[in-house]
Amino acid sequence: MRDVVRQRAGRHIQRGQDKFMGKFTGAFVVAGLAASALAGVAVAAPAKGDPVLGKKVFMRCVACHAVQPNAPMKMGPNLAGVVGRKAGAANFKYSAAMKKANVKWDEATLDKWLLKPSAVVPGTSMAFAGVPNAEERAAVIAYLKKPVP
Ligand code: HEC
Repeated sequence: MRDVVRQRAGRHIQRGQDKFMGKFTGAFVVAGLAASALAGVAVAAPAKGDPVLGKKVFMRCVACHAVQPNAPMKMGPNLAGVVGRKAGAANFKYSAAMKKANVKWDEATLDKWLLKPSAVVPGTSMAFAGVPNAEERAAVIAYLKKPVP
């Protein structure tokens, strides 16, 4: 009888420990995930582009482009929502080259465009030498995706 009680108590303790360990490993997993998430952000940030730097880079574009929706058209088309859009889709008098260009502004294409516009749309009317620095291109693309105030 006593043995049974002790056994039961033993099992109970055992189960309690399992639960504790469960929580413990759970906490470890969560901490691990958080740590790798943080590391992920730190590593991925330069490749993804920093919109704050992008805003500075966009100073080279503001003479011709606005990025706020409904902002008046300048010498170039409004760029609000341009990332992922078909080329030549804003309300703007595009060049014939741009109108017939079958281009979608995904990040890879924008990167090439911003390095050398005429390489993507030969005959474009965007008179712009390009942004030679890859980090600055990534940054301005990030800014176009999500303009920071
Ligand atoms: C001198 C004026 C000028 C400057 C500076 C300029 N652009 Fe442009 N941009 C234009 C014009 C004009 C067009 C339309 C080109 C066409 O129709 O061939 C254009 C087109 C574009 C397009 C395609 C828009 C669409 O609706 O398809 C993108 C994207 C773009 N510019 C991004 C930029 C970025 C980013 C910068 C700065 C790094 C910049 N441009 C600098 C004049 C300029």
